[in-house]
Amino acid sequence: MTMGKFVTKAVIPAAGLGTRFLPATKAMPKEMLPVVDRPAIQYVVEEAVNAGLTDLLMITGRNKRALEDHFDREPGLEQALELKGDQGRLDLVQQASDLGPIHYVRQGEAKGLGHAVLCASQHVGNEPFAVLLGDDLIDEAETLLTTMMEVQQKTGGSVIALIEVDPSEISAYGCADITAIEGEDYVRVNSLVEKPAVGEAPSNLAVIGRYVLHPSVFGVLENTEPGRGGEIQLTDALQTLAAGEGEGSGVYGVVFKGRRYDTGDKLSYLKAVITLASERVEFGEDLKTWMKAFVG
Ligand code: UTP
Repeated sequence: MTMGKFVTKAVIPAAGLGTRFLPATKAMPKEMLPVVDRPAIQYVVEEAVNAGLTDLLMITGRNKRALEDHFDREPGLEQALELKGDQGRLDLVQQASDLGPIHYVRQGEAKGLGHAVLCASQHVGNEPFAVLLGDDLIDEAETLLTTMMEVQQKTGGSVIALIEVDPSEISAYGCADITAIEGEDYVRVNSLVEKPAVGEAPSNLAVIGRYVLHPSVFGVLENTEPGRGGEIQLTDALQTLAAGEGEGSGVYGVVFKGRRYDTGDKLSYLKAVITLASERVEFGEDLKTWMKAFVG
């Protein structure tokens, strides 16, 4: 068993163009779309903080200023709420800036997720790190990231999160060919392919937006040519690590069975909003009553 360094750093790529959510994302980052009353990105940052990650780096780009503003103090607004004696809303406003300092790096051009991760190399240095995609929500009751960090510690390689999807849906995802490891609740990833055609997919296991990566991924990304869609794909770099041998190679998978939403996709976003809203104490029951009558 290889004991690696503890993971303390989280990289949150949020520089994508969000074309699946146009026109809403023409002038606004998709990560700022509200899920009930918080922007999607706030759930992601909270997940990282709750998993004990203390050093947060967000990858942003053009048109993404709102992301930085959201996690800063807003003295004018805070003062106005204070004058009104509105402590409840003041607390809500301050929740985002209380999550701790966030570092930012700009990806000058949206050249793909792999390229966005490579933008973090100087900040991360030579230690394993987590990657949380800014538009991918994992239910806050889940401990997926903590489990993945434990598997990284144990294996010394890189760890991805997988979900089982209907075979007809696999071409929207990266897909993993895996082998079970006896006595372990994680799997070995033999190979990875980005968005395979339905008939050519090696499995129905789809890669979702949580990773715990060995820093050797940076050297691989530097030498990864643009792949599908002309973008530098993280999946391609992980495929190289899965096939490689020696220090930092080896890719493992944790199969996730809990709730997760891709808020960059219109239908999945709507499901996230409805599910989370229906669980809110303030109006969940009213919403469910209304929904029953609506679909009635
Ligand atoms: P997506 O493929 O979901 O993002 O990338 P996208 O390109 O913005 O989406 P569509 O397909 O055009 O609607 C997954 C994550 O990687 C980030 C995105 O912000 C998202 O969090 N990303 C993607 C970058 O940071 N840079 C990129 O060049 C591409």
